[in-house]
Amino acid sequence: MWKFWRRRKDQQVDPAALERRLEQMRREYKKARLSEKEVDPDPLKQFLRWLDEAIQAQVWEPNAMALATVKPDGTPAVRMVLLKGVDHGLRFYTNLNSPKAQQLRQNPHVAVVFFWPELERQVRVEGVAEELEREIVEAYFQTRPFASRIGAWVSPQSQPIASRFEIEKAFAKLAARYADGNVPVPPHWGGFRIIPTQFEFWQGRQARLHDRIRYRKENGQWIIERLAP
Ligand SMILES: Cc1cc2nc3c(=O)[nH]c(=O)nc-3n(C[C@H](O)[C@H](O)[C@H](O)COP(=O)(O)O)c2cc1C
Repeated sequence: MWKFWRRRKDQQVDPAALERRLEQMRREYKKARLSEKEVDPDPLKQFLRWLDEAIQAQVWEPNAMALATVKPDGTPAVRMVLLKGVDHGLRFYTNLNSPKAQQLRQNPHVAVVFFWPELERQVRVEGVAEELEREIVEAYFQTRPFASRIGAWVSPQSQPIASRFEIEKAFAKLAARYADGNVPVPPHWGGFRIIPTQFEFWQGRQARLHDRIRYRKENGQWIIERLAP
């Protein structure tokens, strides 16, 4: 069973012992299989099916995805974000002055990965990000709890700050100003939609002979291929 475990401050980690633990960590994946015959011809529909199964299975944070972007110097950056909607692309929300948003404006090419360990599944998506329409952002913003709406105003995301107290003070001030609950959307807050150009569905199998089904777009058509594990 999972529990929060904290090492005492005076207890050092033994790197050699840790390395032996890593070497010995080994799991067989044997819960399911995936065939090119059973997948949906439309990868977005296949994605919705797997996302729904992850939600039904009550995996932890099924909508959490690692989002990789390209920095101006051509090197990658990656961080987690939460998927908040799917239409013809995958939608997420963020601070529009954040490094990730600036990177996306310069170079919209992205890669995303979901990992659902309880289902022994991974989904990789590659695509191009576009900024979300303001109406969509405003409608979503109003579904957020009050504290999250205030939080969006007070955090200059990824900028160095003097202390935690600074942010807490700003939070308290704004919470008092918008005590009636009507918090407008900050102009520096919004979202992106990732229009997919490639999907890969990965199902763990025994002896590392995993099932991998890739969809790639060719002349506007999705081509489905099985990849070697
Ligand atoms: C599970 C999880 C979900 C997150 N979801 C979001 C999100 O939806 N939007 C967001 O801006 N940051 C989210 N974050 C924080 C980001 O990972 C990151 O720290 C922050 O956005 C700054 O990234 P940047 O400096 O690359 O712009 C999440 C972090 C975790 C661990």
